[in-house]
Amino acid sequence: MATKILVVDDDVDSLKLIGLMLQRQGYEVEGANSGGQAIEKAIATPPDLIILDVMMPDMDGYTVCKELRGNPRTKEIPIIMFTAKTLIDDKVAGFEAGADDYLTKPTHPAELASRVKAILARSAAAKRGGGSEGHSYAFIGAKGGVGTTTLVANVGALLAARGTTALVDFRLGQGTLGLSLGAGRSTGLANVVSRNPTEITASAVDSELVTHNTGLKLLLSSPRPRETQLNISLDAALATIKSLEELAQNVLIDLGPGLNRLSARIIREVNMTVLVVEPTRIAMAMARNILDEIRQLGVAEGYIFVTMVNRTPSGIQMSWQEAERILGISNIAMISPAPELAFQAAEAGVPLVRYQPDAIVVSQFAKLTEELVKRINNE
Ligand SMILES: Nc1ncnc2c1ncn2[C@@H]1O[C@H](COP(=O)(O)OP(=O)(O)OP(=O)(O)O)[C@@H](O)[C@H]1O
Ligand SMILES: [Mg+2]
Repeated sequence: MATKILVVDDDVDSLKLIGLMLQRQGYEVEGANSGGQAIEKAIATPPDLIILDVMMPDMDGYTVCKELRGNPRTKEIPIIMFTAKTLIDDKVAGFEAGADDYLTKPTHPAELASRVKAILARSAAAKRGGGSEGHSYAFIGAKGGVGTTTLVANVGALLAARGTTALVDFRLGQGTLGLSLGAGRSTGLANVVSRNPTEITASAVDSELVTHNTGLKLLLSSPRPRETQLNISLDAALATIKSLEELAQNVLIDLGPGLNRLSARIIREVNMTVLVVEPTRIAMAMARNILDEIRQLGVAEGYIFVTMVNRTPSGIQMSWQEAERILGISNIAMISPAPELAFQAAEAGVPLVRYQPDAIVVSQFAKLTEELVKRINNE
């Protein structure tokens, strides 16, 4: 995963120098040459880390730092303050303003690299470590109709017992999540992503959520074909997910089948990706390619979880061992065929896990949910 660092310095030469050092370490670097520009950029597309010069003419680093800490979109971003001064007072002022670390100029590239690495590791651990921080899960189908939406609804219903849970149907014009949960045809997601990305805030998203009788919060796509004409920008999609993470402890994203530019970007952003397959030759071939691609996005093996939904009534014979061999992975969750139940629950507009809690397939959804929670908490 290309980690993005925003470097802020009014001096173009040091901006270039620091940028180059970081690029050599494999980071994606963006520059800003004033405090105002830094705040604008950080809000538009929040980076993973900000390196901030203290002495700048228009707005000094402390003020920038305080501003960033005061905005929900940027308050969690780690900040390293960078300055030519070596006075201890500056260090204190920097930490008071909310900086995570402090570096003095000129800095040796090795020192810069090690500080950056340490801060990023700390912030990644904090992100995974639970607490009040939200967890996000992306669900992607190896192909259409493999049971992705059913999985989102049921894992979501089980997670709702543990904390506030939001489901997003990221399928403008092809939204079936609302229909399958009997929640109607809200155009919530379309309304949100039509906004300017900087206006996609938690409260803006909150006003578009539909609350289901299971307590799930739903941000829905409607089934109206016209909605497909709306293009979701990457920035709008990411701002939507960030806002949902502020509103709910668990965020589940139904990306639908296949990998595309948008879903690939979202997968880089979430804590866990669930790839849904079925035991057919075609779906397995699709899954293998998608898996390769997801790995190339830099997602670590432990954060990809494959689930095989066997929807075939007669139960095509493919063991989990066979599936694991084909996909080259070591852990796969299985959901047994339950055509009657799946049909009845969908007709009733109730997640299967609520419709018939003692069914075998429900214990499989529960086991899968347990496993996801364990992994995301790094246990
Ligand atoms: N374990 C199961 N056994 C039998 N049928 C199932 C099972 N899980 C889901 N189904 C049924 O399979 C059909 C497709 O499910 P779903 O809509 O969840 O798939 P999807 O992958 O989201 O489809 P799409 O690609 O259209 O978004 C539905 O009719 C659903 O009720
Ligand atoms: Mg679906």
